[in-house]
Amino acid sequence: LAFPERITTFDSRTFKQTIFNVTLGEFEVIGTLHPAIANSTALLAYGRSATTANLPGPTFEVLQGQPLFVTVVNKLPGNNTGSLANAIDYTLTFLPPPPGKGVFTSVHLHGGIQEPQSDGNPDVWFTNPDLCDYSTETCVGPLFNVSNKYLDPPGQKTHFYPNINPATLLFYHDHAFGVTRLNVYNGLLGHYIVRSQWELQNPALPKGKYEREMAIVDVLLNPDGSLDYPTMGVTPFHPKWVPETFGTFMTVNGKIWPFFEVERTTYRFRIVNGCQARFLNLRLVDPQSTGERIGNTSVLPFVQIGAEQGFLPAPAVLDTILMGNAERADVLIDFSRMPVGAEIIMSNDAAAPFPDGPAPVFGVNGTASVLKFIVVAHDARAGPTRGVPDRRAVGKFVPPAAMAAAPPVTKTRPLLLLENLTPSGATIQLTLNGLPYRSPLTGAPIVTELPAQGTTELWEMFNPTADSHPIHTHLVGFQVLNRQPYNTTSPPTSPVFTGPPEPPAPNETGMKDTVKVPPGFVTRILITFARPGWIPGQGPPFPFDPTPQPGYVWHCHILNHEDNDMMRPYFLIDPPT
Ligand code: C2O
Ligand code: CU
Repeated sequence: LAFPERITTFDSRTFKQTIFNVTLGEFEVIGTLHPAIANSTALLAYGRSATTANLPGPTFEVLQGQPLFVTVVNKLPGNNTGSLANAIDYTLTFLPPPPGKGVFTSVHLHGGIQEPQSDGNPDVWFTNPDLCDYSTETCVGPLFNVSNKYLDPPGQKTHFYPNINPATLLFYHDHAFGVTRLNVYNGLLGHYIVRSQWELQNPALPKGKYEREMAIVDVLLNPDGSLDYPTMGVTPFHPKWVPETFGTFMTVNGKIWPFFEVERTTYRFRIVNGCQARFLNLRLVDPQSTGERIGNTSVLPFVQIGAEQGFLPAPAVLDTILMGNAERADVLIDFSRMPVGAEIIMSNDAAAPFPDGPAPVFGVNGTASVLKFIVVAHDARAGPTRGVPDRRAVGKFVPPAAMAAAPPVTKTRPLLLLENLTPSGATIQLTLNGLPYRSPLTGAPIVTELPAQGTTELWEMFNPTADSHPIHTHLVGFQVLNRQPYNTTSPPTSPVFTGPPEPPAPNETGMKDTVKVPPGFVTRILITFARPGWIPGQGPPFPFDPTPQPGYVWHCHILNHEDNDMMRPYFLIDPPT
């Protein structure tokens, strides 16, 4: 298992900011996903230079409250690599550049609190000027020029990140309209850790080499080791687009089925589910217990201390961690009681599609194994072994009052998740509110969610489809209130409930930015809307740009779904006076 380069923007002793601007390139790189694959293959990657670019991109490590400018420069080739080169579906509701004019990208910092023009709106994509003539061709997305606040030259885009989130793991990834699934699958994602001083000064938390990031992504391979991607779509509606892509190999940080030597002590792992459509139900098992007995025996628990938007109010001790796409888990694993030489598999038994598809299997072409830990002796120079986080120690991992009470709800929105099917049952398109992203007549986004700044809304997301959808809101975190089963033939405006509300899982009790919306349930979340850092009565912490800007989006994070219209624009409006 390899770990990405870290870009730490502050001095960890003085907490002073040392880096104010980072230029990140997007490059085609040659690599291999497994040492047993003889041929190397072309992938797409973020990096500070063409020679250091890798999968996943470098991990940013920023201190809360210290802003950062990140300029992304598109140096990508004419097409995606491997079988992805031919996977763009021109029937989706996007407004792409002409074919072959370069892989077009928009970079979103997922979970980041930033102004719209720095948010990586899907229509703010841009191409490589070596491949597209910026003076005569369509080389930027329909909203790029509205958002070009920092007057970037062709082929790049500057983003301002105020880093005012709670301490947590965010991640950055491509978000270009209609091709997000292809670009992320091809390698365009990376971790972004927001630190707090409380966290850095807490001796109970593993640090340095005992804190590691992991991006879990499932892939398909061609016999030559290049990336495969399905391109037989739902004809005649969408000749290339498929409703879900499930890989047959699991990768962690760009390597298939890696192993990681862990010392007999406690580690902190920062995990993101970067899969296209696959949910993960992670468990720590003995390799001997695999095969038919998959899923029955956990040899170690996870102690989950944080989720998407910060620490949990209390650590959750879990045998399994269920992660929808783009959900993050901040977990401790205590290896101190395992003998040297012990092997532990991190397995996945989540059905694909979740929850009603077939379960994964072990072995070659099996996605039930994710990675293997091999226990080695503890390096005494690194300080004492950290043992089982007992209840007293566990309490120290989370700051007091990690989550503030939400203000009173001013608006309740019933929102419907829908899947449009052909008469024979094939998925054509998925929508939110029954609306596509853009008006088929004008091509302009249809905005129906216009929350007022500083207000709190209750979003009730009704899911009558067969799949669980991980719903993500840009800009804002939220609290999961509950989930309630309902009769899916009843409309969201007058739902017929079939059972009492169920509380969120123990690892869903903190602030989140992505939530599983399971079939047959309404999932209720409480969202307080505010411009970046905007505090009622105090205003924003930095000048807010009043010029017109692209808005934010909320969407399903199954990447195939967001590309085929399970995404909605939303705008913040001025607070009621
Ligand atoms: Cu992870 Cu709209 O994105
Ligand atoms: Cu979905």
